[in-house]
Amino acid sequence: MKPHKPLRLGIAGLGTVGSGLLSLLAEHSDAIAVRCGRTVEVAGVCARWRNKNRAVDLSGVPWFDTPAALAVDPAIDVFVELIGGDSGPALESVEAALRAGKHVVTANKALLARHGPELAALAEKSGVALNFEAAVAGGIPIVKALRESLLGNSISRVYGILNGTSNYILTRMQREGLPFGEVLAEAQALGYAEADPTFDIDGQDAGHTLSLLAALAFGVRPNFGAVYLEGIRGITPADFRAADELGYRIKLLAVAVRTGGGIEARVSPTMIPKSSALAGVDGVLNCVAVEGDFAGLIILAGPGAGARPTASSVASDIIDIARGHMRPPFILPAAKLESHSRAQMRTHEGGYYIRLSVYDRPGAIAAIATRMAEQRISLESVVQKREAPSLPGFGRPGQDGDATPVVMITHRTREDALRSALDLIVMDGHVQGSPQMIRIEAL
Ligand SMILES: NC(=O)c1ccc[n+]([C@@H]2O[C@H](COP(=O)([O-])OP(=O)(O)OC[C@H]3O[C@@H](n4cnc5c(N)ncnc54)[C@H](OP(=O)(O)O)[C@@H]3O)[C@@H](O)[C@H]2O)c1
Repeated sequence: MKPHKPLRLGIAGLGTVGSGLLSLLAEHSDAIAVRCGRTVEVAGVCARWRNKNRAVDLSGVPWFDTPAALAVDPAIDVFVELIGGDSGPALESVEAALRAGKHVVTANKALLARHGPELAALAEKSGVALNFEAAVAGGIPIVKALRESLLGNSISRVYGILNGTSNYILTRMQREGLPFGEVLAEAQALGYAEADPTFDIDGQDAGHTLSLLAALAFGVRPNFGAVYLEGIRGITPADFRAADELGYRIKLLAVAVRTGGGIEARVSPTMIPKSSALAGVDGVLNCVAVEGDFAGLIILAGPGAGARPTASSVASDIIDIARGHMRPPFILPAAKLESHSRAQMRTHEGGYYIRLSVYDRPGAIAAIATRMAEQRISLESVVQKREAPSLPGFGRPGQDGDATPVVMITHRTREDALRSALDLIVMDGHVQGSPQMIRIEAL
């Protein structure tokens, strides 16, 4: 029998993930050849700076000056895009590779969240693979789970902790009682947060991942624009103390759920019960949970980033191609993907945590309760913090005109009703500053 031809890779991007992939291929080349029945070879590489000092040995590997040139070169079978960005060289080279009939493996969630359906259609037209395990929660093999293992299920909800930087910051705030700004500065000094952390802490990064998870779980076109985003900047030590007393943890939770009004997809700081498996996912770890009607609750946790975990996912995509496994990128043929019908957040239903700074005046609490009742919101608990608060913005308790923290937990209610009640409570003049509102997710 004739031995199979080697699978020839063109790797564009030699940064964290690209270097990790080259190390993996060097360390495991023999095992991979046995598992695939053929060798996997690096036939070309490309990055911005040719003379940059890199931790990996590139001697003898052909260098290409642009990703687009590498993408279409006859010497490669698979174009591995590890550059990043949702436009420019990443998009142009991936499109060129697919048009030229090359398989594509990418770790680029931003690119897929924005151009996934068009790229999937191109891949289909050329009869090639478009694999992106590393783009969804780094080292966690959730794409394969949704694209293959759970295909016999109807999935009702997919959720997770999808951004390591935010999870690290929230974990430190919870454990040390420190304010957001201080922990962010510490995370930046340690290299866990970027100099501009916006993308991580305001929810966009998790939103990109969630749009891909929703597409895979529900067979819809990825739609980042349909994801509601709320970041973690407004969470205070007072919220962590209250959450702890009430039996909750605060996580930047990403949730996509089917509702009567469409798919509700949101990334927001969320209170989850301390008893839930996700409550123990701390630090830079990620976690994805899927609820299938037959499989039940499946939870995968692990490193959502880093050179080696991400390279592990890229390698699994390459090995699939080497073995001749082909799947539609998003479960269904591109033409059959439904558009994502978006449920509005005002129709969200659930419990809520509310923290108000209430002026110490007779009748203030009763007036607040009345506004809630007018919107048919019932309260599970109301706790007025009488101890001397250490928080800035709260005056000494018990004196007229001073403000006292009041924490309320609502029963299940609609978000628009709650927002109307809070607007009226602020207008009535009983509270200082803006109310804090955090959704509670039943897990
Ligand atoms: N880092 C992670 O843990 C992780 C996890 C999951 C997914 N991802 C995704 O993986 C992708 C790569 O991330 P990364 O962390 O490895 O990024 P990175 O360390 O910044 O590396 C980016 C690489 O792309 C090269 N590059 C940039 N612009 C280029 C251009 N115009 N032409 C050619 N090469 C260019 C850079 O070249 P130079 O080296 O010469 O500057 C560098 O080698 C991104 O899509 C990211 O979202 C990363």
